[in-house]
Amino acid sequence: MTQASVIITNIGQLLPMAGSGGAFDVVAHGAVWIEGGRVRYAGPADGLPPEAGGPVVDAGGRLATPGLVDAHTHLLYAGHRAQEVALRARGASYLEMLEAGGGILATVAATAAASDEEVRRATRRRLEEALAAGTTTLELKTGYGLTPEAEWRLLGLAEALKAEGPQRLVLTFLGAHALPASHAGDPARFLAEMAAVHPALVGRADFVDIFLEPGVFEADVAEQYLAHAQQQGLAVKVHVDELQDGGGAAVAARRRAQSADHCAYTSEAGIAALKAAGTVAVLLPGTAGYLHPEHMAPARQFLDQGVPIAIASDGNPGSSPTSCLGTLLPWAAAWLHLTPEEVWAAVTRGGAAAVGRGDVGTLAPGAWGDVVLWDTDDYRVPCHRYGTNLVHAVYIGGQGVVPPGR
Ligand code: NIG
Ligand code: FE
Repeated sequence: MTQASVIITNIGQLLPMAGSGGAFDVVAHGAVWIEGGRVRYAGPADGLPPEAGGPVVDAGGRLATPGLVDAHTHLLYAGHRAQEVALRARGASYLEMLEAGGGILATVAATAAASDEEVRRATRRRLEEALAAGTTTLELKTGYGLTPEAEWRLLGLAEALKAEGPQRLVLTFLGAHALPASHAGDPARFLAEMAAVHPALVGRADFVDIFLEPGVFEADVAEQYLAHAQQQGLAVKVHVDELQDGGGAAVAARRRAQSADHCAYTSEAGIAALKAAGTVAVLLPGTAGYLHPEHMAPARQFLDQGVPIAIASDGNPGSSPTSCLGTLLPWAAAWLHLTPEEVWAAVTRGGAAAVGRGDVGTLAPGAWGDVVLWDTDDYRVPCHRYGTNLVHAVYIGGQGVVPPGR
């Protein structure tokens, strides 16, 4: 990872996202000093320490924020599923397409048919798109292999992409993403075979995840699978309540998962359980908007109950075909009924909490110097204008990785 030094001055509005709890500060006339990759100072320009050194960048009065942290993506695959657009228009549901061998299973087949280099290149392209839209840290899941060997292959490709940079990647093993035809009717056997991989994941995968959903993996077998991962010392995340309330939030809470993701149909009891466990709710408005726009996660209830939230892209070829969390901010605000302040918190320090990293998602001193300059002087605008990428420049560890003006 790059460890450069830079001083960014003439920032019109700076969002340090450094306060604890719900604190949200807007610093007018700001400056950021990054030294050796880490933030040394982020605050009013007239408070910049006299010893600050390094190349100086003039932000031209623009908005500066921490790099976005996209806490939930499935960007590691080959092919696309554009054929599903017309199927959906004729009334096919997400689970019907999966049960008919399409959906996730179609991407599994396309990924198996592609060479390592093809999968790597397609994923690299998506990571570049994400970067250009302001994502500097992202979680990347396996899950389009569905055999222990194929999931290993994907984990190896993910590790190679992580080593290349420039983004910071958090790796999640999602071998339990769907039940392949080879194990139809026997999810317990499938999960037992996948769980045999867990010991070898220690030190390689940051998290183990499962698609806990009625009709895919039920709560009881999913909980056993997660408990097995934890016995090996692995941390867990869980896909829950995406298409209906399957009791997944309670499982995530009992397992003390780092995050419970989707939560579109989570009940009040589920919300209370997550609160008690301190589990982060990762809300994915792009997916809900794509699959069932009439039903969104109850974001306000999560906030009112004091559950920490993140907002992520869920970038994947089926339910949220995007790489760009940065272009979803207006939809997060509109569909989840959140203020710009709440959206910014959920895509920066909220995302960082969901992936268990305190060193990103904030410009507090000591955090990594990952900064986005936006083509506006008002932090509300990226939560308001849709369909345009407003990113002007991106820095990771103080190094320019998206040049000004693109
Ligand atoms: O989070 N629900 C499971 N996984 C993804 C979709 C993956 C796909 O359709 O390819 C999700 O929505
Ligand atoms: Fe997902």
